[in-house]
Parts: sequence; C-alpha cells; structure tokens
Amino acid sequence: MENREPIGVFDSGVGGISVLRELVKLMPNENYLYLGDSKYAPYGTKSLEEVRKLTIQNVEKLLGKGAKSIVVACNTATSAAVAVLRQKYPDLPLVGIEPAIKPAVLHNPGGKVVVMATPMTLRQEKFQKLMSRYESQAQIVPLPCPGLMEFVERGDLDGDDLQKYLTELLWDFREEKIDAIVLGCTHYPFARKMISKVAGAEVAIFDGGNGTAREMKRRLEEAGLLSDSEDRGTVGFFNSRDTREELELCRFLFERGD
Ligand code: DGL
Repeated sequence: MENREPIGVFDSGVGGISVLRELVKLMPNENYLYLGDSKYAPYGTKSLEEVRKLTIQNVEKLLGKGAKSIVVACNTATSAAVAVLRQKYPDLPLVGIEPAIKPAVLHNPGGKVVVMATPMTLRQEKFQKLMSRYESQAQIVPLPCPGLMEFVERGDLDGDDLQKYLTELLWDFREEKIDAIVLGCTHYPFARKMISKVAGAEVAIFDGGNGTAREMKRRLEEAGLLSDSEDRGTVGFFNSRDTREELELCRFLFERGD
C-alpha cells in the first residue's frame, strides 16, 4: 500500500470542484479531500493579507488531515499567495491554477480573448505578467466579474438572474466579435452553459482545470507519490460552512454531468 494519502484540494468555496472533477478524471485511483471555505467567500474582493491568511489556514487544515500534496483550486488564492506557500512549504508538491490564457491565445492567434476573473486575480502582478507574455499574439481583455461566484455558491447555474447578470456584464461586447473567453475563476465553469448562451455559441471557452490536473500528476510522478492502488479512490468533502445544504451542493456539483 503506497502513497494512498489524499491529494488536498481547496478553494474559497465550491468552485474548485470544477478542478477536482478534472483531477478525478485524470487520476481516478487517487483519494481526495476537498475543502471549500464558503464561510469566508468570496476571496476575490478581500485584501491581499486576508486572502494569504485564509489560504495558509486551508493548507494547514488539509495537511492536518494527512494530505500528501495540495492543489490550490482557486485563481484568486493562487495569484495572491502561491509564492508565499512555496516559500513556507518548499518540499510539498503544490500546484496552483491560473487563467488559461495560453491555450486560448494559441487557438485564436490575432483574436480577441476576454478573461473573466475576480477583481483580485486581475489586479495581481502574476496576472499582469501572464498577460504581457501573450499580448503580442492576441488582444487580451481582462473582465472583472464581482458577484458572479456568488451565483454558483447559491447553486444558481441557469436562472434568469444569472442570465441578466451576464448580459449586463458582456453588454459592451455586443457589437464586437469575441473569439474566446477564458474562465479565470474556478467557479465559472459551472456557469459555462449560460456564459455560452449569452456570449454566443461560436465563442470558444477555456478553463485551467485540466492543465492544473495534468501538472499535479506530473508533480506527483516526479516526487514518486502517485498512488499504487488499482481501485477507484474516495472523495471527501469539507466546508467551513458546515451545513447539510452546503455538502449537498458539493456533491451535486461534483456529480453534475457536463
Ligand atoms: N474560485 C475562485 C477563483 O478561482 C474565487 C472566487 C472568490 O472567492 O472570489 O478565483
């Protein structure tokens, strides 16, 4: 029995379950612990110091439960705190998520790529650097979406209010052609259908979940920490808002088939 300790995955809330799903698809024989910090969500409108503190607390909780590696399944926490985490836990296989600008630009050279993310993610130097790397290859337009993650936290993935929110958010683009949208927050893939309906089916949509899962696999391989189990692993959910409804929402999002 080797390396059966769980992979710890966390987010400010339920959004990181979109990344967890990719991890389980890629490495079904691993065990997982998912921690959502819904009690303190959203992170994207908090101060940098607050997000760093909450992020370290989440890592500590998962390590306390025996996690062998950590996935920061939150773009906001990654942009605010991944450097601090790497310093604090130099030997821990730790992977963060960042907006999938690279694949979006490579598939749409010279096109218009809109990056939807929290205000904090878009403000950070990490994002500015990522954007400047691809700016000569496409027109990249950051689009802060305060309030969007809250729809997903409420489990509202296809209601009229969400459609209205997105219509207003994308209003300025109604007469311009968008080639691609990058979902730079892990909550947004759960609203993908509505985003596609409002933006138009011809707009390609990218998220970083799969790339993050592949990176975690590479890191575990490198560290010799991949599980040797041939059976399907388990997934445990924890949430700082420890209610039955919250855990039901986690399961619902995890099992949702799209
Ligand atoms: N899921 C988060 C992200 O990927 C953050 C949402 C929030 O807490 O504001 O950025």
